[in-house]
Amino acid sequence: MPALPLVAYANRLPVQKIRGGWQASAGGLVAALRPALETRGSAWVGWDGGAEDMPRRVDGLDIELASVSLSRREVAGYYHGFSNSTLWPLLHGAIEQPVFDPGWWQTYAAVNERFAAAETGRRAIRWVHDYQLMLVPELLRAYGARGPIGFFLHTPFPPPEVFARLPWRAQILAGLLGADVVSFHTDSHRDNFVRTCLALRDDVEAKADRLRLLDANRTVITAAHPISIDAADFAHRASGAGATRRLNSLRQQFEGRRVLLGVDRLDYTKGILERLRALELLLELRRPLRSTLAFLQVAVPSRGEIREYRQLRANVEQAVGRINGRFTEPGHDVPVHYLHRGITPDRLLAYYRLADACLVTPLSDGMNLVAKEFVTAQGATGGAGALVLSEFTGAAEEFRDDALLCNPFDVDGLAATIELALELEDDDRRARIQRMAATVAENDVYAWVERELDLIARAGGGTRRASGRERSAA
Ligand code: F6P
Repeated sequence: MPALPLVAYANRLPVQKIRGGWQASAGGLVAALRPALETRGSAWVGWDGGAEDMPRRVDGLDIELASVSLSRREVAGYYHGFSNSTLWPLLHGAIEQPVFDPGWWQTYAAVNERFAAAETGRRAIRWVHDYQLMLVPELLRAYGARGPIGFFLHTPFPPPEVFARLPWRAQILAGLLGADVVSFHTDSHRDNFVRTCLALRDDVEAKADRLRLLDANRTVITAAHPISIDAADFAHRASGAGATRRLNSLRQQFEGRRVLLGVDRLDYTKGILERLRALELLLELRRPLRSTLAFLQVAVPSRGEIREYRQLRANVEQAVGRINGRFTEPGHDVPVHYLHRGITPDRLLAYYRLADACLVTPLSDGMNLVAKEFVTAQGATGGAGALVLSEFTGAAEEFRDDALLCNPFDVDGLAATIELALELEDDDRRARIQRMAATVAENDVYAWVERELDLIARAGGGTRRASGRERSAA
């Protein structure tokens, strides 16, 4: 791990409030960053989410929390608006119509300035995360922050002809190119970014993994580093007593049924409606499955202030009602079990272990960690579940040979793939799971952090002073 302190920038801080007290978030990313973060002098810059009592430190996490508070107007323009109603759909290939609102853009730019200005004093590796903060790398450079700057995009990056629709495309590209390293989950997202820079700017040359900025006389390295999970910890907890107890009671509940599982944030990128339509088609065509198949969909509430998300919820709930209304056999359980809520870690692990097939079928997804969690939980417990995986996820690049790949827009094809998943021999499915679990174990979240931070540390180690041109560009 690099010796410099680390300053991480992300929309949210890595802490959560549980029973009135603040603690480190449970996520694998926080755990993975710990060794680097707990170097003396590290900090995390993030939105306080509206909490008025955000501490500068929490017990058990030796890192300074540099919180950014936002007004209601800023949350509306920066978070619900430009981040989640403009960039989110655009970066996912415009599967919903992105909204282009100059007021939101101005608020996004102003909030990005506040993130960048929150911490510029110390010499550190600065690691900026995701689409909410795309202007921050250039702003840090302009403010004279010392040390290398990396940016990681957790979503896909679309082809140039889609990105080019954004009225503020030049500013967003300039923002990203302020970093020394710009990283993506996959080669195809990275290639889209490089092609976009070449198409929209006339001062860029590309050679291998380097973008040469001719006017600024700088080089930006681009990388593809797929994010992952804390595989060893996940595998350990999957076989733990809590998960096993839950699994036993679920096995009783679903006795005599094959179980299909979906776990997603309730987001239109996740393909939940298409998945339900495929299930509906399968139940229509294969009558015996009506009493022998159960589909368990966990839909974690998300971004409910945005109209498209509320509409999606209504559509999903209507589809669940329709399918259960059409196909529940008298005297039998309903085919679709739908949970619109978050679930405890042990329940999630038990669902992963229970499932005969996990349906990970987003229309577009940067990576998708549910796929990695599922194969890890199954692999650790000798499971023989199948992974039905959308070809439009980052995870498909790693699981190409062993998942059952599908095009989630093709409802007939998806129904056939689900049927195939149920028909594969157990030994075949078990062997596939073992190979996918081994891939995750070899490329866990610690390996991802190390690859990223090593590259950033090597890329831009020099002390930086903002040039006049860089200042005016901000
Ligand atoms: O990359 C996807 C992402 O926006 C992350 O930044 C975030 O952790 C997650 O989805 C949840 O979204 P939100 O913070 O908007 O609830």
